Amino acid sequence: MGDPLRHTGVAQLGGSPRRRYYWGRDLARAVAVEDLRAMTHRRMPRFVLEYLEGGAEEEASLARDRGAYGHWRFMPRQLVDVSQRTLATALLGREASMPLVVAPTGLNGLFRHHADTLLAQAAAACGVPFVQSTMSNDPMEEVARVPGLRHWWQLYVFGGDEVWQELLRRADAAGCEALVLTTNAQIFGNREWSSRTQATKTRLSLPSAIDAALHPRWLASTLLAHGMPAFRNVVDFVPKDRRGFFETAFWIREHQPTSLSWPTVERIRQRWRKPFLLKGLLHPDDVRRALDAGVDGIVLSTHGGRQLDWTVAALDVLPEARAIVDRQRVALYVSGGLRRGTDLLKALALGADAVLAGRAVLYGLCAGGAAGAQRALQILHKEALDAMGLLGVNSVRELGPGYLRAMDDPGPRETAVLGGIRPASTSSSPGFRR
Ligand SMILES: Cc1cc2nc3c(=O)[nH]c(=O)nc-3n(C[C@H](O)[C@H](O)[C@H](O)COP(=O)(O)O)c2cc1C
Repeated sequence: MGDPLRHTGVAQLGGSPRRRYYWGRDLARAVAVEDLRAMTHRRMPRFVLEYLEGGAEEEASLARDRGAYGHWRFMPRQLVDVSQRTLATALLGREASMPLVVAPTGLNGLFRHHADTLLAQAAAACGVPFVQSTMSNDPMEEVARVPGLRHWWQLYVFGGDEVWQELLRRADAAGCEALVLTTNAQIFGNREWSSRTQATKTRLSLPSAIDAALHPRWLASTLLAHGMPAFRNVVDFVPKDRRGFFETAFWIREHQPTSLSWPTVERIRQRWRKPFLLKGLLHPDDVRRALDAGVDGIVLSTHGGRQLDWTVAALDVLPEARAIVDRQRVALYVSGGLRRGTDLLKALALGADAVLAGRAVLYGLCAGGAAGAQRALQILHKEALDAMGLLGVNSVRELGPGYLRAMDDPGPRETAVLGGIRPASTSSSPGFRR
């Protein structure tokens, strides 16, 4: 575990000169997603950082999400006219500025007030879709009012069928253009940090609460000004005495049926006439099964390493999934570990139609609201467009496995995967009780 501000480049330069990420307040001076991450680490209290950064158990899936990118090296072509290159592409049949989608993330209200709307604004400004989580805090109808937004709805199945039916009805009425059913989170991943930062299910541990109080800028823009955020899209399904922030999250978790299986997917497919995607698949047999169920898209994903630990990464199974999925009919997306424009190009070259980005955009949101999230997307766009030029490619359609070579050397970044949080002060939290 390292210093969050230490630049990974130190390894290559033998420690001298000592590089540091930018961690001030001027978004324009953030030149990489890692700068936005350093700004985030400065601003946010520890329990929020644990929530943002953490994975399940030993965080091996989380580490692999990042490490999988390090496995591939580029084979650039020279003397190609790249003066007309573009990242523009079609996502679910509509134009997007680049093959990237802002991933669904729950509890965004912990990062900033109205965070879901801010993320939607950034996505709309950058011309990419935004997937709103069932566990978001802003009402979907409010988010839908963001001008120019391509709004997708992510569904967690909980409670009885009438719950998802009502959420689908609302998503349709709000103009959501696609539905993304998350399949790998019916049992909540074993995120031990979450227990360590809480004293009880509904209360932070004393050290976490003190640490939160020591972050006045965060406190002022979230809890002090607006109180604990509510889960505005689902709270009506929760019993009245369980509607606090943590209580609602726990209640939903306790009411996610572990019986969720393909018949429900088929029932949802029948009811939802617009594009329908499954998120969380990793096994090629499930990819085949999804095609039989008539989905319009598949998102290979480990849920940001927060569910089953020790899985392969989405990128690891991407070439196999690509061979199964007919590009004309079904979209194939990956999610997990994207921090650089070069990561995006690698995923595309291995067969993805797009990448869903979670933390990279959230770092921007935490660092600077909608402008910060937009900055993250701009950085990724610029990096990818420059790298395309250096690779000798003009359009995303040209990218293919011929531009890559698998190498055993994982590259410099694998060692820095979890560099952000020193766990000692939370794991030794005297307030820990379960
Ligand atoms: C803080 C956080 C909250 C998340 N909440 C959800 C969620 O509510 N629904 C969902 O389908 N995925 C959720 N995910 C997974 C993301 O959609 C995405 O797959 C993951 O973040 C990708 O990895 P990355 O963060 O390395 O880009 C969450 C991830 C994070 C980091």
